[in-house]
Amino acid sequence: MTIFYFTGTGNALWAARTIAEAVGAALVSIPSVIGEQREYTDDAVGFVYPQYAVGLPKMVRKFIIQNTFAADYIFAVDLYAHIRMGALGEIAGLLPINYGVYLKTPWNFIFALNAPKHPETVLKTAESKLARVIEDITSRRDQRARPSKRVGGATKYFRDGKFKVADSCTKCGICAGVCPARNVELRADPGGKPIFGSSCEICYACVNHCPAHAIYSNNAMMKRRRYRNPYVALGDIMAANSGMGVSFISAFDIRPIDEVLRPMVTDFISEHWFGTDMLIRGEVIDMTKVDGFALLEKGVLTGVITYITCGSVCEITSLDSTVERRGVGTRLVNAVVARARELDCKRVQLLTTNDNLNAIGFYQKRGFELVGVNLGAIDKERALKPSIPFIGQNGIPIRHEVEFAMYLS
Ligand SMILES: Cc1cc2nc3c(=O)[nH]c(=O)nc-3n(C[C@H](O)[C@H](O)[C@H](O)COP(=O)(O)O)c2cc1C
Ligand code: SF4
Ligand code: SF4
Repeated sequence: MTIFYFTGTGNALWAARTIAEAVGAALVSIPSVIGEQREYTDDAVGFVYPQYAVGLPKMVRKFIIQNTFAADYIFAVDLYAHIRMGALGEIAGLLPINYGVYLKTPWNFIFALNAPKHPETVLKTAESKLARVIEDITSRRDQRARPSKRVGGATKYFRDGKFKVADSCTKCGICAGVCPARNVELRADPGGKPIFGSSCEICYACVNHCPAHAIYSNNAMMKRRRYRNPYVALGDIMAANSGMGVSFISAFDIRPIDEVLRPMVTDFISEHWFGTDMLIRGEVIDMTKVDGFALLEKGVLTGVITYITCGSVCEITSLDSTVERRGVGTRLVNAVVARARELDCKRVQLLTTNDNLNAIGFYQKRGFELVGVNLGAIDKERALKPSIPFIGQNGIPIRHEVEFAMYLS
C-alpha cells in the first residue's frame, strides 16, 4: 500500500503516518514527487490531505491529474476542521475512490479564526476515528463518496498568500524550509527577509511555523495562536515539504520467494526456527519448499513470511523479521493477504504460541480475529519434537496454541 499525503501544519502527516505505521504502507509526500508523471501501482493507494475551502489543495488536485494510479483499492482521508460540505466529491470526481472518509482535525487557517487552545482534545477524538479508519482500510471496506465535478475554492480563488513580514523576523529560513511549493525565498534584498512568489498553496505552513510569528496578512492574525500538530516535529514537515518526503519503508523491496532467493530464505528460516521442518496442526511442513515473500532492504534480507494453501484456506506458516517497528511484518502479512485474495481464498489463518505476546497483539491489530486456543497443543508437539523449548518469549512457559483468522469477503 502507498499513501500520498500533503500537509501544511502536520495534521495530514500525523494521520497518514498513523495509518502507514498500522498497515505497513509506504508514505510519499506529494511535494516530493510533484512534477513527475508516473503510473503508481500497488495493491492499495491512499490520499491524506487537508481540506481547503471545501475542496482539494491545488497541488493534490494537480498530482492526481498528472499521474495514474493502478490499484484495486483507493481511499481518501479528507481532513477538515469546521466545514466539510461534501468536499470528498472533488476527489471522487477525479479517481474511483472505494473508501472516502472525513477526519475532524484542529484548525490552522488563522487568517479567518484562531487556532484551538487545546488541539489535543480534537486529536484524541481524531485518533479514535483513525483506529476505525485503519480497520476499514484493512478490511477493504467500501464507502463511496458521491463524485462531483465541483472544483474546490483553493484551486479557483487562492492565488498567492499576499503575506507581510514583521520586523521581528530573525531570517532563520524556516518559512522557506516548510513551504511545499518552494514559494518562499530569503534574498539579500530585502535584507535577508523572506519574499513570496506566486505559486502559494495557502497551506499556512510558513505562517504557523515561523518562530517569531512574523508572517501575517491581516492585523488580527498577529494576535492569534500559531498551530503545529503536537505529535509532528518541525523537521518532519521540512523533510516532507522540501522534497525528501519518501519514507524509508519504500526503500524496501518485497518479492515472492523464487529459486534465486530460496537458499538465503532457507538459511534465514533455519536461524529463526532451529531447523527447516515445522510441525503445524500435527503435520510436518518442509519449510525449504513453501511459498512466501521475502523483504529486502538494499539487498539485505530483513523479513520472510511463508504460507501454504489448502482449498479456500491460506495458512501463514512463519513470519520473522530482523527489524522492529518499521512496518516489515505488516507489509509481509499484507502481501500474503493480497495473494490469498488472488487465489480466491476465503480465510487466512495462523497459529502462534501462548508466550508470543507480540504476535497475539500484532495480528489482532491487523484485522485478524482470535478464533481458538488449543490447550496443551505444544506439550503434545514437544513429545514429537523434543527441541521445542519449555520456556518461550517473555519468560512464559510454551504450552498452548492460539489461533487467528482473517475472513476475506
Ligand atoms: C487555506 C485553508 C483553507 C481551509 N479550508 C477549510 C475548509 O473549507 N473547511 C474546514 O473544515 N477546514 C479548512 N481548513 C482547515 C484545515 O483543513 C485543517 O486545519 C487541516 O487539518 C490542516 O491540515 P495540515 O495540518 O496537514 O496542514 C483550511 C485551512 C487552510 C489553510
Ligand atoms: S520563519 Fe519567520 S523569522 Fe524565520 S525567516 Fe521566515 S519570517 Fe523570518
Ligand atoms: S508561501 Fe506559505 S502559505 Fe504559501 S505555500 Fe508556501 S508555506 Fe504555504
